Amino acid sequence: MNNSLWIGFLLIVAALLAAIPPASAKGEHDRRLRVEVAVLRGDARLLADPATPPLRRQGLRQRIRSSLGTLGMLVRYAAQSERRPQPELMEQVADLRDLFASGNIHGLARRLDWIKSNYPLDMSGFLPLAANPSRLRAGQSIYQKLCMGCHQNPDRNQPNPAPDLFFLAATLPQDEFAARMLGGIHGVRLTTLQNPFSDEEIASLMTFFASGRRGQTGG
Ligand code: HEC
Repeated sequence: MNNSLWIGFLLIVAALLAAIPPASAKGEHDRRLRVEVAVLRGDARLLADPATPPLRRQGLRQRIRSSLGTLGMLVRYAAQSERRPQPELMEQVADLRDLFASGNIHGLARRLDWIKSNYPLDMSGFLPLAANPSRLRAGQSIYQKLCMGCHQNPDRNQPNPAPDLFFLAATLPQDEFAARMLGGIHGVRLTTLQNPFSDEEIASLMTFFASGRRGQTGG
């Protein structure tokens, strides 16, 4: 991304953030944990797939290592804010780290399947993805202003290139795509690193990607 695009992106994100109250909504830590589990599970499945190319595997290992590094903290935050201790989940996190450290990726993926089915992401704010014109317009507009610069033609010689969001929408289970949208978009360091979008904006983006209308750039 060149400098002016980048500055434009920062300004728009800052403007969006200014319009959003900073309050951390109830259940936010719990959701953050469920998002992380769904993304981690998706990454482990990809790493376990023999068809995944070597460079991408390297990137996935980096992502999984860093996610497992912070997962325990997310469990603690969620337990504190829900006032519900999660000793079993802490044990699961320790097991996940052992499975990963010993290179047992299939075991890791299976364990994450199990955790994910016990800690599913609440999709009620996103489904059904009603493709009404205003959502499509909103999704397209956000994409063109804030995402396309990085996501349209990423450098594929990187371990973790910016993914093709239309391809993700067409191929991932909806809950995993929502989790990647919730966990994979970040604000800026100056204000907050949290995802700056409301659920409705995320739903608009998801609707736009699911429509597959990538060619419609005329506005
Ligand atoms: C500055 C460049 C940049 C911008 C702007 C950007 N992204 Fe990304 N995005 C990336 C990169 C690089 C990755 C891959 C990061 C990784 O895998 O660690 C990524 C990953 C993602 C992912 C996948 C996350 C995951 O866990 O698999 C989603 C979804 C995503 N971006 C959505 C968006 C959306 C929607 C926008 C616009 C609102 C956006 N991004 C703006 C660079 C960018």
